[in-house]
Parts: sequence; structure tokens; C-alpha cells
Amino acid sequence: MYDLMFKDGLLKGKRILVTGGGTGLGEVMTEAYAQLGATVYICGRRAGVVQETAKRISDATGSKIVGLGCDIRVAEAVDEMIAQIWDDGGALTGLVNNAAGNFISRTKDLTPKGFNAISDIVFRGTFYVTLACGKRWIAAGQKASVISILTTWIWNGGPFTVPSAMAKAGVNIMIKSLATEWGPHGIRLNAIAPGPFPTKGAWERLSPKAGGSSELSEVGGRIPMGRNGEMVELANLATFLMADGCEYLTGQAIAIDGAGHLGGSGNFSGLAALGDAQWEAISREIRAANDKDKAKRTS
Ligand code: HXC
Ligand code: NAP
Repeated sequence: MYDLMFKDGLLKGKRILVTGGGTGLGEVMTEAYAQLGATVYICGRRAGVVQETAKRISDATGSKIVGLGCDIRVAEAVDEMIAQIWDDGGALTGLVNNAAGNFISRTKDLTPKGFNAISDIVFRGTFYVTLACGKRWIAAGQKASVISILTTWIWNGGPFTVPSAMAKAGVNIMIKSLATEWGPHGIRLNAIAPGPFPTKGAWERLSPKAGGSSELSEVGGRIPMGRNGEMVELANLATFLMADGCEYLTGQAIAIDGAGHLGGSGNFSGLAALGDAQWEAISREIRAANDKDKAKRTS
């Protein structure tokens, strides 16, 4: 249970699907939504994992959670799952596109199958789920909120995670396109781009010990705020985007990364480590160069 910033019962009456909700960040968002009164459906390829998570969260919160085995890479399986959810109490009111696959690899070592293993989940699978829900919402004149979990690589690229960066960037354009196309139907689509929030699934594939250090976690001042994200922070943002009251917000991707992707940009982000003495020496050096040039000016 999380210490959320929202009032109890905020999401009562909401019916939300969280793909990949059996583990990691999907499990966090599922628990937060359930705590606030929503009915939540979660899916993953490992039916046992989603069912176990559904039972744990349902027991803890008293909300209805349904675990469904589904591979979102298979369009027909997605449509069947969505039909099953609609039959089980009506239309969804929200969708979180959270399921993903990823691993670090030098791009030159990837095979086409390795590329597809990631892009089929993130790029195609996310579209299949969004489409299966969207066409039903439009047919029924039903409003909805869609959140896609992306990465900050959509803005500055993802070396050694190129299939993921490409696929997530594609989903970012999907939400921006559909915010316009589906806006008249009251369907809004936003995205969250998290910095490092340690999960078993991500760390096993992106921060393996063989590399000698845990590159993914905050180490050595890479992130201006000097820490990883906390699950409750993600849960609060995902609730804000799912709840009623700010429907004019659509088509946006919001980073929650302690300024990590901004800190890594520009040429001088490494200078955060310098102390007063070094800055004074730098300033003296620059001023001396200025003075030398000034001395040669005729006007
Ligand atoms: C190179 C690899 C590889 C690796 C798999 N492959 N791992 N290639 N380096 N480390 C290749 C295989 O050799 C094979 O190609 C192809 O990928 C398919 O492999 P399968 O094992 O059959 O794939 P599959 O069972 O479909 O599993 C998909 C998966 C797996 C993506 C490979 O990791 C998975 O199920 N992931 C789900 C969970 C996950 O990834 N969570 C992390 C999300 S974190 P060949 O040609 O050899 O047959 C995230 C962002 C975090 O997304 C950002 C942090 C800041
Ligand atoms: P995770 O626990 O491995 O979550 C991935 C989930 O997706 C798993 O539950 C997995 O379940 C499911 N999934 C994968 N392929 C699927 C498929 N084909 N069909 C249905 N479900 C599938 O990792 P995580 O860290 O929580 O990642 C969750 C999301 O956050 C991802 O979108 C990731 O890109 C994003 N993200 C994470 C971080 C971070 O720091 N953790 C940072 C930025 C972005 P099955 O294996 O059972 O299918």
C-alpha cells in the first residue's frame, strides 16, 4: 500500500487495464489504482504471475483485480482479451500501456529476431492494445484516458538499447497523433518517461553484474537529483493522469527522472562535480584571456 497524495475513493467506478501489470512498475500502478477504488485488469504472458499479483493486491485493497494471460504481440489474442474485459462489466475507462521487453546489447550484435523481440512488444503490441480499446470507445461514445510508459530515450536516443528507443519513440508519436485524431471522441493519451526506478525485470536485462557496475542506477552524480525514482512518485503521477479533472491535458510525454535526461545533455553537465576553488580558478583563467584580448582593442 502506498502513501498516495490523493483522497480515498478517487478512482471509484474506474475500470483500467494495465498491460504487464503483474510485475515491476505495472504492479505499482495497479496497486495504487486499486487502493483508490478502481477495478483493474492486468495481463502478461505468464498467467501464473498476473494471477498471483491480482490476488495479492485484491486481498490488500478489497478492489477487484483480474489477471489475464495474454501475449500482446498477437493481435487476435489482444482483441479476444479486450472483448472478455468488456463482457466482464462493461467498457474500460482507462488503459496503461506498460508491457515492454528490453535488453542491452551492442547494436552490431543484434539479429533481426532480437530486434523484433523488443519492437514486436513495444511498438506493435502497444498499438494492438490501444486500437482494440480505442475502436470500442469510439463506437460507444465513451471517454477514456490512455497512459503509455516510455523512456527518456525518446528525446535523446538510447545507445545500446536501440530497438527499445526506436519503438518507444514510435509510441510517443502514436500518442501525439491520436490525441488529435481521437480528441473529438473525448479520448486523451499521455505518456510517462521514467528515469531509473529499480525493478527486477529491468535490472536483470539492463544492469547485469558482468559489466562491473550497475550503470542503470544513479551512480556518480549522473542524475542531478542524485537518486533513483521512488515507486510512490510514479504511482502519484500515473494516478493524476488517470483521474478526472485535468482532461484538457493530452498528447504529452512527461519525464519523471530527477532531470536525468536534461543533466546528461549539453556539454557541461559534468561540471556539477567542481568545487569553489576550481570555479574561481576557471573564472581567473577566462578573465585573463578576456583581458589579453581587450588590451589589443582599438575601440
Ligand atoms: C542479444 C538477445 C538477447 C541479448 C535475447 N536476444 N536476449 N540478443 N543480446 N541479451 C535475442 C535472442 O537471441 C533471439 O534472437 C531473440 O532475441 C528472441 O529471444 P527470445 O528469448 O526468444 O525472446 P522472447 O522470449 O520473445 O523474450 C523477449 C525478450 C525478453 C525481450 C528478449 O527479455 C523478455 O521477455 N523481456 C520482458 C521483460 C523486460 O524486458 N523487462 C525490462 C523492461 S525495462 P535469435 O536471432 O538469436 O534467435 C525497459 C526500460 C528501462 O524497457 C529503462 C531504464 C531507465
Ligand atoms: P518488468 O517488470 O519486466 O515489466 C515488464 C512487464 O511486461 C512484465 O510484467 C511482462 O510480463 C510484461 N510483458 C512483456 N512482454 C509482454 C507481452 N508480449 N505481452 C504481455 N505482457 C508482456 O519491467 P519494468 O521495469 O516494470 O518495466 C515496466 C515499464 O516501464 C516498461 O514499459 C519499461 O520500458 C518502462 N520503464 C521502466 C523503467 C525502470 O527503471 N524500471 C524506466 C523507464 C521505463 P510477462 O513476462 O509475464 O509477459
